[in-house]
Amino acid sequence: MFRTTVLQECGSTNTEAHDRDKYRHGDAIIALRQTAGRGQRGRSWESEPGENLTFSVVLEPVFLKVTEQFMLSEALALAVADTLRHYKLEPSVKWTNDIYVGNGKICGMLLEHDIKSDHLSRTIAGIGINVNQTAFSPNVPNPSSISLLTGRRYDIMEVFDTFSTKFSERYKTLESGDFRLVSEAYNESLYRRDIPARYFIPGEGEVPGIIRRVEQDGRLIVEIEGRERSFLFKEIEFII
Ligand code: BTN
Repeated sequence: MFRTTVLQECGSTNTEAHDRDKYRHGDAIIALRQTAGRGQRGRSWESEPGENLTFSVVLEPVFLKVTEQFMLSEALALAVADTLRHYKLEPSVKWTNDIYVGNGKICGMLLEHDIKSDHLSRTIAGIGINVNQTAFSPNVPNPSSISLLTGRRYDIMEVFDTFSTKFSERYKTLESGDFRLVSEAYNESLYRRDIPARYFIPGEGEVPGIIRRVEQDGRLIVEIEGRERSFLFKEIEFII
């Protein structure tokens, strides 16, 4: 699905992808090495040069309303989960869009949207998939990789091609407007769904809770003390 540019090195593929003169819908920028990889919440993203798949895709999902933007996040997360299944792993999607196998994080995503009136006009989806790296800095929370789990090494371009095929299927479903299909698949893949665990809620502290589902607008529904409560990004943290 993508026209691919491979860079030996860049600061961050997300930053590179913002260049509107160079990139448009359907472009993917892969970097073998990022010198300023960016993560969620202003954190940095570390990846051993040449070992992992660090890339950004440029999308112009103009058919999506701003209120439907979580659907794109779901489609991307599902495409990465589908990719890991192709390598015989059993992934789950940790809300909002980290991909886990067991309690180890294999992939993180950074989505940046541009909006025109009430629709999305352009989205940069930056994705870091840990492929061959087997040792991680102690500062990285719960890291894992495909190689750590399977004991094999992989061609990162082949992993990208698998992602590309899987994403194109998920994106077509989105374009057809079948949000329910995407949302149901996302909920079926949800990390810790229906499993009692502990969560941190700012202002309340640590509480026991059970994740029940994620609504189409992206709110996480957690049962706490017998009552369903809904949370937006940053309003609840997983304790792993
Ligand atoms: C997270 O914190 O989990 C999100 C990590 C996103 C990392 C990817 S790597 C490719 C792209 N370029 C960046 O600078 N960040 C994203």
